[in-house]
Amino acid sequence: MNSVLVMHGPNLDRLGSREPEIYGHTTLAAITATLDGIAGSLGLTLEHFQSNAEHELVDRVHRAADDGVGWVLINPAAFTHTSVALRDAFSASALRFVEIHLSNPDSREAFRKTNLFSDLASGRICGLGALGYELGLRAIAGLIETSAADA
Ligand code: DQA
Repeated sequence: MNSVLVMHGPNLDRLGSREPEIYGHTTLAAITATLDGIAGSLGLTLEHFQSNAEHELVDRVHRAADDGVGWVLINPAAFTHTSVALRDAFSASALRFVEIHLSNPDSREAFRKTNLFSDLASGRICGLGALGYELGLRAIAGLIETSAADA
């Protein structure tokens, strides 16, 4: 079983009630349950982490790197546009990650077009709501399989 860390940045603990016209009605607990429900059949074990604090997310990336976690599925939320610290944590690690956004930041306010993660990401899914998390996890499983076949 390959282990994948699922990470969520600030305000995503409010999913379900937070601006549902933008982010949908699905709660973070429901997203977590959906991912846990498909992980086994994809050969993955999951850990989940959400924080509103930048340093906690940075520390969690460090811990994942030290623990030998290979892949991260992350919605950096507002830190997508601002956090050099979280970006640096990924670029200093061997972690590979898929970036996910519920909305499509590129079709929103101009400040959301700044993205400090996409150039490091193995892939990016945005604008598909909660479904994006499931697609992101399936993408990671596929990429793990492809790299195992190439090795
Ligand atoms: C978000 C988009 C970000 O711009 C925003 O700050 C979020 C959520 C998304 O999932 O659509 O908090 O990452």
